[in-house]
Amino acid sequence: MLNTKTIRNDFELNDSVYLLSHSVGRPLKNAEDNLSAIFFEAWKSNEPWHQWMEVFTAFQQSLAALLHGQPENYCPQTNLSSAFTKILFSLPIRNGKQYILLSEFDFPSIGFVAEQAKKNGYDLKFLPKEADHTNPQIWADALTDEVQWVIITQVQSNTGVQIPVKEITALANERTILSVVDVAQSVGILPINVEDWNASFIIGSCVKWLCGGPGAGFLYVNPNIISSCEPSDVGWFSHEQPFEFDIHHFKYHPTALRFWGGTPSVIPFAVATNSIQYLTNVGIDAVRKHNIDLTNLLIEAVTPEHIISPVDPDKRSGTIILNFEEHQEKVVNKLAEHNVAFDARVFGIRLSPHIYSSRQDMETVISCISL
Ligand SMILES: Cc1ncc(COP(=O)(O)O)c(C=O)c1O
Repeated sequence: MLNTKTIRNDFELNDSVYLLSHSVGRPLKNAEDNLSAIFFEAWKSNEPWHQWMEVFTAFQQSLAALLHGQPENYCPQTNLSSAFTKILFSLPIRNGKQYILLSEFDFPSIGFVAEQAKKNGYDLKFLPKEADHTNPQIWADALTDEVQWVIITQVQSNTGVQIPVKEITALANERTILSVVDVAQSVGILPINVEDWNASFIIGSCVKWLCGGPGAGFLYVNPNIISSCEPSDVGWFSHEQPFEFDIHHFKYHPTALRFWGGTPSVIPFAVATNSIQYLTNVGIDAVRKHNIDLTNLLIEAVTPEHIISPVDPDKRSGTIILNFEEHQEKVVNKLAEHNVAFDARVFGIRLSPHIYSSRQDMETVISCISL
């Protein structure tokens, strides 16, 4: 049983009912002290890099502890867009396989990056909005011979829908199609086992449910594929021996770190590692159960026609999306008056209770949405 009181005490909360963890997770109270000890203390020495490098090792280890797989298969990245760019340009376009399959519901960044790949001869194919993205058959029909890449967004930010990743990556693997899974909206709230998926690549960041702040993105590379990847965006940290310092000799790092690049920022990864370790210690199953318990309270309080996100816990994400149509503005105003931190997107109001949210928080929301 979770001690929610202790947990709430570990986070920097204010007097709002904070339901924006799909956007920015709350910081841990110890984030600043932890950063001082790890980053600024090391900087006071003549050679801080030795200790700073340990931050990245800890980051890789914390991701492997949370998501499975080996630490060396994770590479720190700035964000998902940049990781995706590096991936798309790391493998040659194969003959007759000019398509990248994505969805109209992917995050815009993903589409912007894919659009740039047209410069390399690719074309884009979108799963339409009307398609039932939860149905593997829809993906099976779209994964034709001309597709080289498929992008799977595990949780769609505007619909709160969970996509059946494992079924789709299995189809892609059968058809030698490369898969990239976007876990921006799922990591830290849904249990993930990267080995189960066997995707080619997985991209994510720590700013949302992982409560790790912006700037600590990551890329998981399937160990079966690492040796064939030749990213073009490299730097001395992508080199097998970063400290060799020979301008005429570059050899890709044998691990996922070949995707790294030049001198990395350290602070975001120190902050994020602390929060990944915290949530892993709490246990993602417990985090998810708490989220389901609280979102169930909302679901029970609202008439079904106003619930846009799926109701089935296996199909919904951590976010409940509600649309009250002609009453929407009234509800939005009431939530704002009661100091509820939420946002509203094309399909409705997005509400994301996390480990630091309480039943009392849900009662406040319910009092605002009861028409
Ligand atoms: C599903 C999804 N992918 C990607 C992103 C953001 O990508 P980036 O890290 O490049 O900003 C978001 C941000 O909200 C998102 O919801």
